[in-house]
Parts: sequence; structure tokens; C-alpha cells
Amino acid sequence: MSDTNDLAALRDSTAQQLAAAADLRAWDAVRVAVLGKSGSLTGLLKGLGAIAPEARKERGASLNRLKGELEGLVEARRTALEEAALDARLAAERLDVTLSPRPFPPSGAEAGGIHPISRTMEEITAIFGAMGFAVAEGPDIESDWLNFGALNIPEHHPARQDHDTFYLPAGADGRRPVLRTHTSPVQARTMLGQEPPIRIIAPGRTWRADHDATHSPMFHQVEGLVIDRGITLGHLKGCLIDFLRAFFDIRDLPVRFRASYFPFTEPSMEVDIGWSRKTGELGKGSDWLEILGSGMVHPKVLANCGIDPREWQGFAFGMGIERITMLKHGMPDLRPFYESDLRWLRHWASDPLSPPSLAEGV
Ligand code: DAH
Repeated sequence: MSDTNDLAALRDSTAQQLAAAADLRAWDAVRVAVLGKSGSLTGLLKGLGAIAPEARKERGASLNRLKGELEGLVEARRTALEEAALDARLAAERLDVTLSPRPFPPSGAEAGGIHPISRTMEEITAIFGAMGFAVAEGPDIESDWLNFGALNIPEHHPARQDHDTFYLPAGADGRRPVLRTHTSPVQARTMLGQEPPIRIIAPGRTWRADHDATHSPMFHQVEGLVIDRGITLGHLKGCLIDFLRAFFDIRDLPVRFRASYFPFTEPSMEVDIGWSRKTGELGKGSDWLEILGSGMVHPKVLANCGIDPREWQGFAFGMGIERITMLKHGMPDLRPFYESDLRWLRHWASDPLSPPSLAEGV
């Protein structure tokens, strides 16, 4: 076989093998078999040494030309295979952006909606979530101790009378459990269950034996608790002002802190927002509307819950969900919240597919 013939044969067989290589793996096997350390071309190059010096020059030049040619073939095949792989992927993952959206609700069905109470809870969670609060929960049936005692409301404290408590039959310890009258026991549960720093909100159901246009025996509250080192009234104020302005979506909503009394905070403050009693408009006029209770967590409450008040401080707050929902949307009566009247629900429900987000300016 002449010199040029074996080189031409190597080029042709390489070209054939490359063409037959259907993917990059097969391609790489061909590449290694020809150009690799023990590849056929490499073998030929190594053989140069054994050739008579007169013939070597010419043979070397042919081999180098062939090498360049083979490298070109190999590269070209790789590019072709990569492009084919990309085309296949683009075809497989193709999105038809002109398709019309899937109908919601599916045809024939009626869309469900989010109840305004749930919606307010979602909004509260989004706003406090952005401030780094986690959501905590507690049971509806609560021990007397956690609902009252741990929160510095002892047996004969007058504050108990304000709560119109539903009592349940006494348990083994002789004490009657209660339907929790507020979400504040979740403060105690959280402090007993985890080390500070603590930053939680606790939305949920609460119960009091009371029923009229603005009271229901079952209603909802959201509690807030922050425990850390060096927490001051300034933190409480900043946090609640930011929350109220975000929730009511009024940038310059007037907020007033008024000295008050709660057994579990010292000092205690009631928080009012500005509104017009005449028109009912929030943020306008010169009247004040009480919105929530708050204060610095009482040292006795910290101690009751196993936290050293010399090292840790905190603030807490609690508010009624129905109340702020009614104010935000101008709803006059609390009772329809629980009447399951479909006309009312259809009117007030919100779209389940667009949960609140801060980007919407909740
Ligand atoms: N638990 C109180 C109530 O139901 C509300 C409240 C007031 C909660 C002050 C707090 C607080 O955490 O600091 O009337």
C-alpha cells in the first residue's frame, strides 16, 4: 500500500465513523480512536522515527496535513452534534405563548373565593413575614394557666370579667379548661417552647360569650410577640406604624399611642388610627379610632415563661381581625362573616389565584 493510500484510507474511515456517530459520546470514542494517545494517527506519527531520513520529511508533511484535516473533521462533527442536541431540546421544551390560558374555573364550575377573614390573615402574614416574623399557632381549647395565669391574670383579677369566658368541664387537675378568649396564650406557648430571640405572629380563632352587631362568640385575633435583647418602645411603635400603613394602604395614616392597661404588658398602650367619624374615611378627619392593644411584655410574664427579664425584653400586640377587615372595606356589620350567604360571599371573596404580595402594595 502506498503512503498516500493508507492516509487517504484513514481519512475516509474517520469521516465515515464520524458521520455514523449519533451523539457526543460516540463522537468522542471516534476522536480518541484517531487522535488520542494511542489513536491511529498518533501511531503513524510515532512511526516516523523508523523511516529513512530522505522519506521522513515528505511523510511527516503528509501526516501533519492529514492531522489538520482530521482535527477539522472532528471539530465540525462536534459542532453539528451540539447544534442538533440544542435543536432537539428547543423543540421538546417549546412553549406556545399564543395558547389561551386554561379556563378558571374549569367550564361549568363556579370559582371558589377566599373569605375576607382568611384574606386579612394572608395580608397580615405577608406584611409581618416581610419584617421577619414567623407564624405560630395554638389550640382553641386552652388551659386556664396559659390563657390567664401565665399572662399575669390571676384567679380573681378583674380583667377576667372582661373576657366573658366559655369554660369547659374540669379536667383531672380540677381546673376548667377554657375556649381561649384571646390569642395571647400563644405568646406563653412560644416562649415556653423556644429560646429567644422570638419574632412571631399568631393569627387564629378566639371565643367570648358575647353577641351583637360588632361581637360574635367566635371571632379572630392576631397576636404579635418580639423578644430580643435591647427591645424598646421605639421598636414597638415603628413596627406597628409600618404595619398599619401597609395594611390600610394609606402612606401617611395618622397613628396614636395612648397609655392603657393590660395585665401582661408594662407599659401598655392602645393604638388608634386617624379617621373621620362623619364620613367613615380612614386617614382623613380629626377623630381617632381604637385599633389594637400593645405594650412591653411584663417582666412577670417573661419569668412565668422561663425567660430572664434582666437579659431579654420584648413587645407584644393583639388585634381583632374582623374589626380591621370591616374598617378596611367599610363593612357595617360583623354577622354576615359567618352567615354563609352566597351573595355576600361572592361580593367580598377574593381571587384565590392572586394571593397578597408586598409587590402589589398590600
Ligand atoms: N389580648 C388582648 C385582648 O384580647 C389584646 C392584647 C393587648 C394583646 C395587648 C397583646 C397586648 O399582646 O400586648 O384584649
